[in-house]
Amino acid sequence: MHFGVDYYPEHWPRERWATDASLMREAGIEVVRMAEFAWAKMEPAPGRYDFDWLDEAIEVLSKEGIKTVLGTPTATPPAWMIERHPEILPVRQDGVRVGFGGRHHDCQSSETYRGYIRRFVPIMAQHFRDNGGVVGWQVDNELGNSHQQLCYCDSCHRAFHSWLEKRYGSIDALNEAWGTVFWSQSYDSFEQIPTPSPTPNSHNPSLLLDWRRFTSDLIVDFLRFQVEILRNECPKHFVTHNFMGFYDKTDYYDLARDLDFISVSYYPRIFIEGERLAPSMTDLAATLDLMRGTKQRSFWIMEQQAGPTGWETLGSTPRPGQLRLWTCQSVAHGADTIVYFRWRTCLFGTEQYWHGILPHSGEPGRRYDEIRTTIRELTPHMPKWEGALPGSEVAILYSYDQRWALQIQPHHPDLGYARQIRVYYGAFCRANVPVDFVSDDADLSCYKLVIAPLLFLTTPELSDRLKDYVSQGGSLVLTMRTAVKDWNNRVVPRTLPGDLSELLGLTITDYDCLRDGDQKIRWDANQAPTGAYQAPKGASSVPTDDSFKALKWCDIITLDGAESLATYASEYYEGSPAITRNTFGKGTAYYIATEPDTPLTERTVQYLLEQTGIVPILETPVDVEVVRRRAKKSEYLFILNHSAVSAEISVPSQWKHLLGEKLKDGRLALEPFGVAVLEAQL
Ligand code: GLA
Ligand code: ZN
Repeated sequence: MHFGVDYYPEHWPRERWATDASLMREAGIEVVRMAEFAWAKMEPAPGRYDFDWLDEAIEVLSKEGIKTVLGTPTATPPAWMIERHPEILPVRQDGVRVGFGGRHHDCQSSETYRGYIRRFVPIMAQHFRDNGGVVGWQVDNELGNSHQQLCYCDSCHRAFHSWLEKRYGSIDALNEAWGTVFWSQSYDSFEQIPTPSPTPNSHNPSLLLDWRRFTSDLIVDFLRFQVEILRNECPKHFVTHNFMGFYDKTDYYDLARDLDFISVSYYPRIFIEGERLAPSMTDLAATLDLMRGTKQRSFWIMEQQAGPTGWETLGSTPRPGQLRLWTCQSVAHGADTIVYFRWRTCLFGTEQYWHGILPHSGEPGRRYDEIRTTIRELTPHMPKWEGALPGSEVAILYSYDQRWALQIQPHHPDLGYARQIRVYYGAFCRANVPVDFVSDDADLSCYKLVIAPLLFLTTPELSDRLKDYVSQGGSLVLTMRTAVKDWNNRVVPRTLPGDLSELLGLTITDYDCLRDGDQKIRWDANQAPTGAYQAPKGASSVPTDDSFKALKWCDIITLDGAESLATYASEYYEGSPAITRNTFGKGTAYYIATEPDTPLTERTVQYLLEQTGIVPILETPVDVEVVRRRAKKSEYLFILNHSAVSAEISVPSQWKHLLGEKLKDGRLALEPFGVAVLEAQL
C-alpha cells in the first residue's frame, strides 16, 4: 500500500460509493482512512451500534482491492453524550466551558469520557478485527489540535496535582524545586497548586513548564489508553496517529513511542489564519525531517494536500505540477505511504473549501489527473526505498522542554525556539546536506556534527553526554542561552555556560538583550573559511565581512582556551568574540553567542561543513531541493524544483536517471515544479 485517500462515505449517498471506489482504483489508490469523525453514525444512541454502513463501504472498496485504515472517532463525542455529561466539555484558561459544535470538545482526563471510550473502542475493534479489508488504526485525530489552551477543568486540575505528586514526591521538594518562597507562594499541599489560569501577574516559570509537561503527558496517556485497547483487540493491525509537524502541544518523541509508525498531516500551502505567506521550501523540508526524527524511521503521510485549503478563507490553488512535487517531497523525506486529504470536496460543514482530489461536482478534473499520473509514475519504484533513511551526518537537537521553557520566557519578544531551529536547518537544507532531528536523550555517536541551539535547560547527565560526544571526536555547536537553567526551570547559580565551560573553553561574563536593534559581526580575517566563501544562493550581493548581523541577543565572552572565529563589530563589546571554537578531547566544540542572521548562519554552516569534511550531495540553484534515501544496495536522490521557473543542474556520472526529467550529458533540466529521481549503486 503506497497511496491512499481520506474517505468519508457517510458524506455521500451509497449509490455513489462504487463510482468512488472505481475512480480510486483507476488512480492507483490502494488504501483509505475512514470513520475518524463518525462516532454519531456508529453509535447513534447510547449503546445502539450501527456499523452496517461502514461494513458496506469497506466491502465496496475491498472489491476494488482497496484496504481500510479506521480511525477511532474520539475527536468527536456525539451530541447525546455531551447532553448527558456536559462535564466532558473542556474548560478554557479563562474558566469558560466551551460548547458543542466543533470537534475535540473533549477533556482528555475526564473519567466519564474515558468510560465511553472504554466501552465503544473495544466494540468497534471487535467488530472490524476479522474484516480482511481492515489493516490498521489511527487513534483519534491530530491530538492537541483544536484543544487550543487545553483544559482547565476540575478533573484536569486534580490530574495535575497527581502528576506533580508523582514527580516531586513531597510538597517540600516541589517548593524547593520551584522556588515558591518568591512572593509567598509556598504550598502546604498539592491541592493548593493552581492551574495557570489568569492571575494578576505572571505565574511561576517552573509551574508553567510543568503544566506544559503535564498536558503533553496527558495527551500521550490518552493515546496510550486507546493503543492498549486496540493492541488487545486487534493484535495484527498496526496503530498510528497523525502528527502536525512543528506543533507544540505534545512532545512528539513521547507520542511516537507507542505507535508502530507515525503519520503526518502535510499541507505545504496551508495559510494559517492571519498569515499571508505559506511556509518556505526549507521550512517544509524541516517539518518532514522533524516528523521522521520522532522515531528515526520512515512514516506515512495520512493527509497529503490535494487541492486548495481553507475553512473561511482560502489558500491559493496548487499550480500544475505542485501536487506531484509535494508528493515526491514527502516520499523523499521518508514517507512510504501517501494518503491524500481528502477524496472529494465536501458539500457541507466547516471544511467545504478544504478541497479534495475531486471537486464538489465529483467529476475528475486536473487534480485527479495529476495525482493519478503521479501515483502511476511512483508506485513501481516505492518498494525500492521503503524504510530507507537519508544517512545524515548532521543532527539538530530539537527539544520540547527547551521550546516550552523559551515560550514561557522568550527573553527577546521575537525570539522563537522553533524559528531559530529552522534557520539553522535552512542553511543545511539550502546546501543540500541531509539533517536528522534528534531528541535530547538521543545517541549522538553516529553524527559528525551536532547543532544544539538554545540549550536553555540542562542536567548534569545531558552535559556529560555532550562532553563525551565531543571528547570521542564529535563536533558540537552550542549557542546563546545554553545551560542557564536546570530541568525545573530554575536558574543555576554559576557562571555561564556552567558545566559546559571547559568543553567550550570560555565563560560568559555579561550579556545584552538587543532591544535597540541588531549588532554587527565580523569574521576574523585569519579565521576565514578555507576555500572560497560561497554567497548564500539567491543572495543579491555577497555581504562584506562586517555586515553580518547579531540578532536579539549577544553573550559577551571571555575566552579560556577557545579561539575566536568571529567578533562583534559594534557596541561596547566591539572586538569581543561572537563565534568560537575549542578543541576538547578528540573533537571540537563551537559556540555561537547570538542568533546569527541568515547570511551569517550560511557562512558559519559553510565553515562547519569544511571543518568536519561533510560534503553537500549536489550543488543546485536556490529553490531546488535535493534529498537522499539510502537503501541497502542503492541510494536515491530526489531533485525537487520548488519554483515556478525551470532550473538546470549538473549531475555527477554515477547518478542514473530513474524517473521524472531525463539527464542529458550530465545535465538535468527541470521544468517548473519539476522532479527527477536518480539512482546510484552503493
Ligand atoms: C486536519 C485534520 C483533518 C481536516 C484537515 C483540514 O489536518 O486532520 O480532519 O480537518 O485538517 O482542515
Ligand atoms: Zn479537563
